Amino acid sequence: MFERRDVWKLGSEADPWDPILQWYARAISELKGRPRTNPTSWRYLAAIHGTGIARSEWPQGATWQECQHDSWFFLPWHRIYLHYFERIVRRTIVDLSGPDDWALPYWHYSDSQRPDTRSLPPAFRRRQMPSGDPNPLFVSGRRQTINDGGRLDATDVETGAAMAEEFFAGPADPIAGFGGGVTGWNHSGGPRGSLENTPHGDVHVGVGGLNPPGLMSSFNTAALDPIFWLHHANIDRLWEAWLDQHNPDRRNPTRARWRDMSFKVGQGTQAVTLMVREVLDTTQPPLNYTYSDVSVPTLAPGAVLAARSEVASVFSEEGSVPEDEDLVSEMVGASEDRVPLGAEPTETEVAVEPPSGPALREEAEGARPRKIYLKVENVRGKELVAPKYFVYVNLPSGADPADHEGRRAGQVSMFGVLEASESDEEHSGSGSTFSFDITGVVQRLQEAGDWDPRRLRVTFAPARVDAERAGDVSAGRVSLYYA
Ligand code: C2O
Repeated sequence: MFERRDVWKLGSEADPWDPILQWYARAISELKGRPRTNPTSWRYLAAIHGTGIARSEWPQGATWQECQHDSWFFLPWHRIYLHYFERIVRRTIVDLSGPDDWALPYWHYSDSQRPDTRSLPPAFRRRQMPSGDPNPLFVSGRRQTINDGGRLDATDVETGAAMAEEFFAGPADPIAGFGGGVTGWNHSGGPRGSLENTPHGDVHVGVGGLNPPGLMSSFNTAALDPIFWLHHANIDRLWEAWLDQHNPDRRNPTRARWRDMSFKVGQGTQAVTLMVREVLDTTQPPLNYTYSDVSVPTLAPGAVLAARSEVASVFSEEGSVPEDEDLVSEMVGASEDRVPLGAEPTETEVAVEPPSGPALREEAEGARPRKIYLKVENVRGKELVAPKYFVYVNLPSGADPADHEGRRAGQVSMFGVLEASESDEEHSGSGSTFSFDITGVVQRLQEAGDWDPRRLRVTFAPARVDAERAGDVSAGRVSLYYA
């Protein structure tokens, strides 16, 4: 069994070079020396995730540009991809006469007891190896402040919203849940799962930045930053943590079209083809790994998010939760125009009608607790000005959003939005879609006498403006669902 360990426990600011990281660095130098056409080379491996190289110039049979995003395949695809990468690195280390039990460390940035872990682990910031050779774990294509040891924003690493999700996909098809909306083989469309949004997307852009965009900021370059693999090991670990909450609702989808989907990564003798169902237990072959710690990470500082799972229902007292396959949802309102997401906060209004379809029937039968979701649909653009937007519900007019964390519905991370806006063979061009469980927020608004069931105001506030440009991102519409 291989053990994936916490990178921040493998070294310190004063002494960053644990053997696990030294071997990782040496293996990367080796992979970088291999030609791009070699399926075990650094550049080939990164191109599996994404590449700007034209299809006509790909090596014969290349499995490039295949990362699954805005989809319920996001987690299993990246798990298979990491497994493939880890095997190649381990074999390379053995060939260099290193240990045969090397495993990818993970970057656990969400521990509020250890805020230093929001900084990039020191071995990734040093310009040189202890030998004096250039350090292959360092890349200049990151936000300067991150390479200088600055921390990611606390909101970039929040896990509360994701961990509080009750369903992997759903509760019904237009809603995302923890792991992503029900899609076919895809790069875009969504809706995007909570974990994929935050912390996943926020950490990408938090490391890479926007002005100019660093390697971690786009699909085509992300896997060229050695920290990518440790970030994804942590995302994979959070999947384990979510399942590990001793709550019967936390389980993987049972649908065959998820479990039987297979992905091929790499080519030649090293290629790996695995079905999703084969990678659901990491302790079994072919994966054979564990995480040194999968305890549930400290929840978000925002009381909103932490309290969310305690809210049973706004409408009904109790009920049993059926299989996610059976759940239904109903749209009860949507904004009329596109909503610009620029350098200033923007507000939009949603007129809400009482449910008249499936949500009403469900309610009459008292089938289960009711949930309310806010969807932000088809976020598209070609130029970003901010890495993400905080989304608030019914903010008092003229108020400073920061004073109203209790009204924060979620965050919209810009990672992947540009890619999802391009239409080509892999992308539909429809942009990215997000859904947020706002049941708890609505309940608080009701208690405060600030909830009008016919009308909702939604504010988008940029987290930090990273680029001095006009930008052209907008959301297609904002809608409200009862599920
Ligand atoms: Cu396929 Cu973190 O991205």
